[in-house]
Amino acid sequence: MGVCTIQLLLASMGFFILLCRLPQHAQGITRHYKFNITMQSVTRLCHTKSMVTVNGQFPGPRIVANEGDRLLVKVTNHVPNNISIHWHGIRQLRSGWADGPAYITQCPIQTGQSYVYNFTIIGQTGTLWWHAHISWLRSTVYGPLIILPKHNVPYPFQKPYKEVPIIFGEWFNTDPEAIISQALRMGGGPNVSDAYTINGLPGPLYNCSTKDTFKLKVKPGKTYLLRMINAALNDELFFSIANHTLIVVEADAIYVKPFETDTILITPGQTTNVLLTTKPSFPGATFLMTARPYVTGQGTFDNSTVAGILEYESPIHSSFSIKNLPLFKPTLPPLNDTSFATNFAEKLHSLASPEFPANVPDRVDQRFFFTVGLGTSPCDKNQTCQGPNGTKFAASVNNISFVQPNTALLQSHFFGQSKDVYSPDFPINPFHWFNYTGNPPNNTMVGNATKVMVLSFNTSVELIMQDTSILGAESHPLHLHGFNFFVVGQGFGNYDPNKDPENFNLVDPIERNTVSVPSGGWVAIRFLADNPGVWFMHCHLEVHTSWGLKMAWLVLDGKLPNQKLLPPPSDLPKC
Ligand code: C2O
Repeated sequence: MGVCTIQLLLASMGFFILLCRLPQHAQGITRHYKFNITMQSVTRLCHTKSMVTVNGQFPGPRIVANEGDRLLVKVTNHVPNNISIHWHGIRQLRSGWADGPAYITQCPIQTGQSYVYNFTIIGQTGTLWWHAHISWLRSTVYGPLIILPKHNVPYPFQKPYKEVPIIFGEWFNTDPEAIISQALRMGGGPNVSDAYTINGLPGPLYNCSTKDTFKLKVKPGKTYLLRMINAALNDELFFSIANHTLIVVEADAIYVKPFETDTILITPGQTTNVLLTTKPSFPGATFLMTARPYVTGQGTFDNSTVAGILEYESPIHSSFSIKNLPLFKPTLPPLNDTSFATNFAEKLHSLASPEFPANVPDRVDQRFFFTVGLGTSPCDKNQTCQGPNGTKFAASVNNISFVQPNTALLQSHFFGQSKDVYSPDFPINPFHWFNYTGNPPNNTMVGNATKVMVLSFNTSVELIMQDTSILGAESHPLHLHGFNFFVVGQGFGNYDPNKDPENFNLVDPIERNTVSVPSGGWVAIRFLADNPGVWFMHCHLEVHTSWGLKMAWLVLDGKLPNQKLLPPPSDLPKC
């Protein structure tokens, strides 16, 4: 809200001046949204299914706000499933009750119940997104969360002519809830998706799908801001537009040093803004934009390609029919192109300017070393399992496969009732050293527990996440709730605490909320634990989360009143 005051200047001539404090100095506004969780029948690839949606929309509605605004989103559950919504990447300063992961910060919203998510967007501008955070419901329940700068504050790049969200998803012909529950029962890998989608549309490279194609209609000589989101369940994606170059300007709602690229790589959970400048004049051609996965794991995967069309508005009186124009296709990197992934990660840097500083913690209070990767669990007696050698697939952090509690961690912490819910002793490093990226150990069984890592307020954390080769090395996009972190280093093989820190970038590392642990390698991140609450951290490949590749940080209150978690809202769902 702009605040205006009338000041009577009697001094010389006695006229009124209306002084308005410009809105960028002012508080934001409150924006209200209603999310009705409803079943909706949707058809893709000639398969119709009834699925869980927000307001019957697929993808879900766009939330648009300015930095500094407060959002009140009333979610009402009209479906048989329990639901909760996560505002992916929102820092949730002292408002952890609004973060959304089921059984971590809240009990899910049950059928017929409502919950109002109440939070303020502070210090973040760009593209984020929201999604269901329970089981696999995010396969259909997701949408963009667009944070514009405060009023009258420009972007640190050329003002785009138009802004277009591009949200990638995965389409399953059958019910994803049935797929994951069957996989968890039998211990094998879940069925893979039937298509990738751009804004819910698989595009012309699939059977029975040409009419479901996303079209980006553009004018020549203009710059478009594409707000890219990877909402796919289980796949990192390459994306490219034929004969066009993209300029990356932002990642996870933080501006980056702009760089040009033909192809981007985006993991589930990541968002990125890119500028697309169109050809100076009508090119007499149309251009495909395509995405397909980057895959490092050993399991089966959906190797198909989603395509949308970049279509230039034809000049008036032109005789062109779009159908007769030549169609160009982009060339994407090979499916397992880890060197592309490495090079792309190395191009990402914070702006680190006076206006947009990179506040990398330079002192470190606590160092942690977490292995992340797959493992196995024993098969129940009298059952045959479909995992490795008759076991069940599992996944872990420091060999602990997280067991989901029956009540939310945050409530049990806040009300001092955590004794039977979690233990505060998550290990700071693996119990046993092994050659993490060499020959895997004979025993691949994981442990099962609900453990949290406790941090006192304002602890400066350095965390190394090390991939393991157990059941195959694999890239894992790790997402931390409640914080952004700086990616200060990464490498292949085993992390070397004596040599590798020398090469850390503490000057302009990328700041984000989701980062890939390289396949057969490690990543080093730093963050300041300045946000009290319980913060989930997990692989954003949903299958790995389901198998237990997740843990939680508990950040204690600070001493000052403004360093404490606020009390829970009265409508907080009960389990
Ligand atoms: Cu986007 Cu915990 O997730």
